[in-house]
This record gives sequence, C-alpha cells and structure tokens, in this order.
Amino acid sequence: MSRLSDEVQRRRTFAIISHPDAGKTTLTEKLLLFGGAIQMAGAVKARGEQRRARSDWMKVERERGISVTSAVMTYDYAGRAFNLLDTPGHEDFSEDTYRTVTAVDSSVMVIDAAKGIEAQTRKLFEVCRLRDIPITTFINKMDREARDPFDLLDEIEQGLAIDVAPASWPIGMGKTFLGVYDLLNDRLVLMERTGRDSLPKAGEPCSGLDDPKLDRLLPADALATLRDEVDMARGLCKPFDRQSYLEGHLSPVYFGSAINTFGVRELLDGLAEAAPPPRPAPSRARSVTPDEDKVSGFVFKIQANMDPKHRDRIAFVRLCSGHFRRGMKLKHVRSGKTLTVHNPQLFLAQERELAEEAWPGDIIGIPNYGNLRIGDALTEGEDIYFSGIPSFAPEQLQKVRPRDPLKAKHLGKALQQVAEEGAACVIKPTIGADWIVGVVGGLQFEVLADRIRTEYDLDVVFEPTALHTARWVSGPDRQRLKAFVDANRGSLGEDHDGDPVFLARNAWHLGKAKEDYPEVAFAKTKEHREADA
Ligand code: G4P
Repeated sequence: MSRLSDEVQRRRTFAIISHPDAGKTTLTEKLLLFGGAIQMAGAVKARGEQRRARSDWMKVERERGISVTSAVMTYDYAGRAFNLLDTPGHEDFSEDTYRTVTAVDSSVMVIDAAKGIEAQTRKLFEVCRLRDIPITTFINKMDREARDPFDLLDEIEQGLAIDVAPASWPIGMGKTFLGVYDLLNDRLVLMERTGRDSLPKAGEPCSGLDDPKLDRLLPADALATLRDEVDMARGLCKPFDRQSYLEGHLSPVYFGSAINTFGVRELLDGLAEAAPPPRPAPSRARSVTPDEDKVSGFVFKIQANMDPKHRDRIAFVRLCSGHFRRGMKLKHVRSGKTLTVHNPQLFLAQERELAEEAWPGDIIGIPNYGNLRIGDALTEGEDIYFSGIPSFAPEQLQKVRPRDPLKAKHLGKALQQVAEEGAACVIKPTIGADWIVGVVGGLQFEVLADRIRTEYDLDVVFEPTALHTARWVSGPDRQRLKAFVDANRGSLGEDHDGDPVFLARNAWHLGKAKEDYPEVAFAKTKEHREADA
C-alpha cells in the first residue's frame, strides 16, 4: 500500500453530538486523556476558561458560559490518527454545527442515561442522518440512577428509527454500577471508583458469559442478571454489523461513565476498529476520493479572533485528497488565484502548531487569508466545486444601523466580513438604507453586536423588523425572474455574494409570491458553490 492510502486508512475524523449537559465536554477530555494529548483531566475546561479569559472580545460567550466557536483537536490512539471536531452545543448555533458535520466521517452521540433522547440530540442526529454519517452511541452517567437499558435502547430504536446493537452491557447502575461486559470482545470491565483521572485497566478477557471466572469476579445476583439481560438483548437487538453501521442503519451502543473515565477505552477501541476512514467527497462533476494524488480540500468554517491581539481569522479546511505539504501552491477555485500556504496550522489539544504535512481527513487552519469563504475549494489546479455545504435561510431578521450615522460605510465592511465567515446572513435591501441581518438563533444578535463593537470599534443598534423570513430566489427563465424582481422591488435584497433574496413579511406573502411565480425557486438553503457558478 502506498503511504497515502496508509495514512488515509489510519484517519478517523469525527464529532461528538449531544444535548447540553449530557457529558460531551467530559467525554472529550477523557478521549484526549487516552490519546495522550493531555496529561490531566480537566484540561479541556481549563482551556475553555483560559480562552474565555483571553478573548475579552466575546463577553457574551463568557457571561453566558457557552462556547460558541468550534474547535478541532487531533490525537493518536491505537495506531490511528483521530481528528475530533467540537460542535457547539447551544441550539442557537446549529448552522455552524451543520457545517461541522459536513467535515466529519462519523459521529458519537452522547446520551444521559437518566434522560434518554433529548431535543437537541434528535436535531443533531437528523443532521447526521441527512449526510449518511455513521453514528456510535455512548450512554453516559451510568454511575447515577439511570433508566432501564432496554428502555433506553428501545427509545433510540423507535425514536430515531435506527437499529441498535449493544456493544457493551451494563452491570447494575447508580450506586450498584459495577461495570460493563464488553460484548464485542468478550471482556469483563469493572469500574474502579478510585482515581477518576487515571486510565482504567483494560478488561479481563473471558471465553464468553459462561466463563467460570465470572463467578469469581462478580456477585452471584449481578452475574445472573447480566446473563439474563444479555440473553434477552441478543434476542431483541441485531448483532453488530459493520456494513450496516457504515451505511448509517445501525448504531453500536456503549454504556459508561465519562466522569469516571469508564467505558471510554471500549468506545475508542470501537472507533479505531470500525469507524470509517475519510470518505469520498461529493462535488459537482465527480466524487473526489481520498487516495487521489492531487491535494484538494474545502473551507467549512471561518473563525475570527482566535488570537485577540491580532485581528486574525482562520479558515478551517478539511482535506479531501492527496498529501498536503507546507508551502504548497494551491488554486483557490472561486477566484482562480493561486495561494501559497505558508503557515498552515494543526490543532493539538493544547496548542496550535505549524503543519509540515497533512493528509485526507485532517483539518488545517489557514490564517489571515481574507478571500477564503465557507464552501471554497482549494486544489492543485482542477476546478472542483464541493457540494452539500449549505447556508440556511435565517429564521430571525433584524435591521442594523450604526449609532453614528456617518459610519454606515464602515458598518457595511464589517457586515461583509461577518457574512463571509458564515456567522450571519447579511442582506442589503434594494430600497432603503438599512442593512438586514438574519440569524438562525436570537442569541447571535448579541454576539454580533459585541464583536462589531470590539473588532471594528463600531457601536451598532439592532432593531426588530416586520419581516418573517428570507428566501434565495432563482429561476431558469431569466425573463420571468426579471418580471418577479421588477414587481417585488420593495421586498428584495442581495446577500453578500450579490445573490437575490426575497424578504417575506409573513407566510401568506411568501405563499402568494410562490403562487404568482411558479417558475421562480424560493430556496431555504443556498449551497455556497451556487454562488460560484
Ligand atoms: P456537556 O459538555 O455535554 O454540556 O456536559 P459536561 O461534560 O459539561 O457535563 C455536564 C455535567 O455532567 C457536569 O457536571 C459533569 O461533571 C457531569 N457528568 C459528566 N459525565 C458524568 C458521568 O459519567 N457521571 C456523572 N455523575 N456526572 C457526569 P456539572 O456539575 O454541571 O459541572 P462540573 O462542575 O462537574 O464541571
């Protein structure tokens, strides 16, 4: 095998999805602990605190105690190179999460054992399903009073319409939680209640549930229950089938307790073994496979102010093919210009470092390259347009104006940048002087006002509008489109790419426009590539 395909096979790029408080941060921390990327548990939170303390610019983030930006962390485990992409947990930032999901090959769904499937779990699950991303389930907090495991499995299976295959089975719960039996590798793994931050031992290999050594290692009643339950589970659930998992039809389920670093090793082993390496990336003309020699990748996220001392922006690029080396000249397909990547960054748990090389599935950060936008492709020459990286029609629209009316032009520039980052949708109405800013969740207005104040030294005022929603309009028949545009000037605007947007006052207004102009398309999402066509 060539080095390229070796490196591709070794990579596991994934995200953790969960409802807030289910334990995503704790699990992340423990995964990094196993990966040797951090020495001591607590580092992720500490790092979060540190980051918040440093980035004064985002007071909202600090005050609300939420993380609004998503990070990438890279670590090695069992000969595999893992890239863990963090997804913001707060529901206001689901658009960002959606784009993160476009850059991973699988995901881990964390569920609180006492709560089961919660609203945000379901939403994020659907996002993964839309992209056919295989999902591994981790049922967390088994050290607390939890719901019955059958009940939880049934809820996942029925509620999310996916087959479940228990990969481990819990022995007791809450105060009587002893550990799990690893069903895939026949091992008994007992939870040690001492030393939360040390790595627990691997389990005890068994020849099966009838192994007489189990009588020695487990109390008789716990063992009898385990045998009964596993018997029943095997009768009720499908066995683990990798193909079915890879196709997104079946989710292996692990039970554990992240805070006790318990069940984490089994989860990681499962990911190392079964999770998919980088998948082919769909593009307009063809599918781009990771083993291709030529380097390609796409921007899925832009983040401002990683370092508040400089006004720096980082474009996060998911590599899709080829062996990337520092200093490479890549074609920025949208502009046709060549870009020499001098300072690509890799993101290790605690620091960024220069990436001398990177492989498909890896995420590199390209700093301060103002022309990169979400959805843009970088290649070694071919005009590739990656597909499936959408913008969403904003659900909340507000007018924005500078407190000082003389600074309107300045505001225009700031908004253009914000829009290019994908932090909000910015629309300039055809008639009138105000800008309209659209977001998916209301909290983003506060974050934006704060950023514009600190980064651009501009005080802005957001004001409610009577607008209901926005739709990107297009149509194959230019004349009809023009007729629509002419008749609806008062309700039209342009987004930052110059694409026409219809601003509807209410549902009826939108319905009427669709009825009157059936040949005009009113799109809820815009694929970034469309802007490039
Ligand atoms: P999130 O990122 O999904 O929002 O969840 P996070 O890891 O921050 O965990 C939410 C709370 O649940 C935390 O408690 C955390 O300590 C706790 N937790 C996580 N895993 C387990 C587990 O396996 N068992 C138990 N019993 N608790 C767990 P907190 O009180 O909100 O925060 P903290 O003060 O402990 O940090």
